[in-house]
Amino acid sequence: MKLIDGISRMATLVKMLKKEGKSIGFVPTMGYLHEGHMSLVKAAKKHTDVVIMSIFVNPIQFGPKEDFKKYPRDIKRDEALAAETGVDIIFCPTAEEMYPEGFTTYVNVEGLSSVLCGASRIGHFMGVATVVAKLFNIIKPDVAYFGQKDAQQVIAIKQMVCDLNMDIEIKTIPTVRESDGLAMSSRNIYLSEPQRRQALVLKQSLDRAINLVSAGERSSENIIKEMRSLILRMPMVEIDYVSIVDTKNLKDISDISDEVLIALAVFVGKTRLIDNIIVKV
Ligand code: PAJ
Repeated sequence: MKLIDGISRMATLVKMLKKEGKSIGFVPTMGYLHEGHMSLVKAAKKHTDVVIMSIFVNPIQFGPKEDFKKYPRDIKRDEALAAETGVDIIFCPTAEEMYPEGFTTYVNVEGLSSVLCGASRIGHFMGVATVVAKLFNIIKPDVAYFGQKDAQQVIAIKQMVCDLNMDIEIKTIPTVRESDGLAMSSRNIYLSEPQRRQALVLKQSLDRAINLVSAGERSSENIIKEMRSLILRMPMVEIDYVSIVDTKNLKDISDISDEVLIALAVFVGKTRLIDNIIVKV
């Protein structure tokens, strides 16, 4: 496995791979890898000749009061995990090279970026879309892999790829969970033992929603009310949002009739956690 930090070295290697006719699968990450990330790599390995993973804690997608500085980083551990799972190349550029002085161009996926997580994380999705566009231009992947865990992110990226005519296939990989149901996340490390137990309410509230829909409930308002009351039983958990939206445009749906995304974000102490499911009726 190669570890590359320079943009021009990475671009040269990509040129060589393309010349050899190799297809490139790309897994963008911010590192501190877990099984969720590795499931993207495993999918990439099945479909493409060379798997490139980026590890870059992207400063411009964090708000001024968010956890950029303390975001967990452990490149040695990441390297070992990536090699074990069959990543061929890790690309870990520096922030200085990605955003040199004079950098002024940003990608904004309008509408999709300002709802759900975007409502409380102003500028977050502009940061994500911008870094992913830059990484796509450097790596030139045939296929790029994203997790359903960050449902809004992958929807925004698909919209960007379509709007900007990027010739890249975007694949969405199901959410990987701990055995007790908590969605894997690099941020789970922030949780104390009691917070970790209360965080299970994210998945429990989604399960409750599935049960309600299965029993014939179609009113989003009623489902959201039930989910909220379940969550509010946990004193350490504060709700950011619980929403039921259209899977394509993320607009609120009041009566469930087709396919919807049920998504929520909560704070457990200072840690912001998200989860979601897609429900079809
Ligand atoms: P990061 O949070 O490191 O996630 C990298 C990729 O792994 C994303 O596509 C995310 O959806 C996926 N992922 C995370 N947890 C997962 C889980 N439990 N199951 C399945 N997939 C999971 O998302 C980012 O980084 C950044 O915003 C990035 C796209 C790299 C841009 O900076």
